[in-house]
Amino acid sequence: MKFFVDTADTDAIAALNDLGMVDGVTTNPSLIMKSGRDIKDVTKQICDMVAGPVSAETVARDADGMIAEGRVLAQIAGNIAIKVPLTWAGLKACKVLSGEGRMVNVTLCFSASQALLAAKAGATYISPFIGRLDDVNLDGMELIEDIRTIYDNYDFTTEILAASIRSVNHMKQAALIGADVATAPPHVIRSMADHVLTDRGLDAFLKDWETTGQTIL
Ligand code: E4P
Repeated sequence: MKFFVDTADTDAIAALNDLGMVDGVTTNPSLIMKSGRDIKDVTKQICDMVAGPVSAETVARDADGMIAEGRVLAQIAGNIAIKVPLTWAGLKACKVLSGEGRMVNVTLCFSASQALLAAKAGATYISPFIGRLDDVNLDGMELIEDIRTIYDNYDFTTEILAASIRSVNHMKQAALIGADVATAPPHVIRSMADHVLTDRGLDAFLKDWETTGQTIL
């Protein structure tokens, strides 16, 4: 499973990138707002840091606006994936932009039927939002499973990009189901290394080591 980082915080991306944990980056208008930076400047900086796809989202509601914005965003760098919402206008924009050979990430997906439409419109990525479904007592993981089944049934090449991930368990479940990609905030990816028994075991080993009076260097 590829790891995308869901942030426009360049320091956080750099820290994970140094460890080889970043296969791509996703942003959205809220994350750009949070960064406090100009969308083109921050997106360019991210594209220069990361070799993989960097999703930048359009903000128009109509297809022509999305197409025009998508073409502008694509000029930022060769690794831009244009993000459009899962509306009829977004699907139309997806069809046009993917037909031009551009990567398109169809976002705000909350049902398997929507995901089927995105694949037929030529999406490079479909982004089902797990956490936001869980927030309203629906099952985000069931959606990932359903999309996996549908895409495999018909050999769609659209990649499932599990999004709105809130926990380490979400990452594990997405990997078990076979999501192609998971995008998560930096703190979730860092937390994947944590285990209380690792900490406890290390403390015990180092306490015993101290009593030997030895050094390695
Ligand atoms: C995906 O591309 C979105 O940017 C993101 O995963 C949304 O996550 P949220 O529901 O935590 O805002």
